[in-house]
Amino acid sequence: MKIAVIGSNMVDLISYIDRMPADGETLEAPEFSLGCGGKGANQAVAAAKYGSNVMMLTKVGNDIFADNTINNLKKYNIDTTYVERVNNVSSGVAPIFVDASGQNRILIIKGANKCLLPADIDKAAESLKKCSILILQLEINLETVYHAIEFGSKNNIPVLLNPAPGNAELDIKKICKCDFFVPNETELSIITGMPTNTEENIKKAALTLIEKGIKNVIVTMGARGSMWVTEGKIQCLKAFKVDAVDTSGAGDAFIGCFASCYVKNHDVLKSMREASAFSALSVMKKGTQISYPEKEAVQDLLTE
Ligand code: RIB
Repeated sequence: MKIAVIGSNMVDLISYIDRMPADGETLEAPEFSLGCGGKGANQAVAAAKYGSNVMMLTKVGNDIFADNTINNLKKYNIDTTYVERVNNVSSGVAPIFVDASGQNRILIIKGANKCLLPADIDKAAESLKKCSILILQLEINLETVYHAIEFGSKNNIPVLLNPAPGNAELDIKKICKCDFFVPNETELSIITGMPTNTEENIKKAALTLIEKGIKNVIVTMGARGSMWVTEGKIQCLKAFKVDAVDTSGAGDAFIGCFASCYVKNHDVLKSMREASAFSALSVMKKGTQISYPEKEAVQDLLTE
């Protein structure tokens, strides 16, 4: 049961800050760390750490970051056959700011990720057809995302779309065929144009997507847990209570772990629970991929 992640990789430049500087101000921040990230790569690593066989389609630049990104994916036994280098463009880079409460603000410079095209999916078609699920995010071109959804639907491969970063231009008609649509509250609001400040509003916004034909909407709500909305049914799951030091990459942790469980058990709620535990443990450590826990730690939390 192989999982394919079609999406982004980034170099995470994480600054831990006490506050954002004001206009024209230079401010000392206590700590910095450099790590491997990108929503796609994070999700691939989460699924691989949870025991799945994972392949990744992504592009890196021809720069000092490229080898490190590829070697990092290999370190987690992720199949990098379809990770390509692009000349004259930088690798994707993400300056991240994490405040004292662990909340994050992220900028992305897509770089080589913009060069992942529909033709790259066609090139990898035979390998992709052997996969049990395709995972997508929005740090690559929308045309590539739409093509991948079409490919999954034609070949009866379930598709999970994480619409992150939120993009109001996302064409709902073109994404209706995905089996799982997994936004956080902010992304859900951007995409539906509706408020998502309360659970009631989140339900209403998610239901508009179900009415438009999406089968399952799973909203990740941070410390408030997650919500599964499908036709005629809404179920909420509480988050595990932990002390968060860095929430960056927690949504990706949830998605990678969810997919890893779901392809094995086809049980949405059970997969959400394991994903919630995996992601809760990830926020207790600094960094994105390097904060992801081992499967044993997740099992321990689940049985506590
Ligand atoms: O979701 C977290 C990720 O968003 C970071 O790793 C960063 O690279 C951006 O893509």
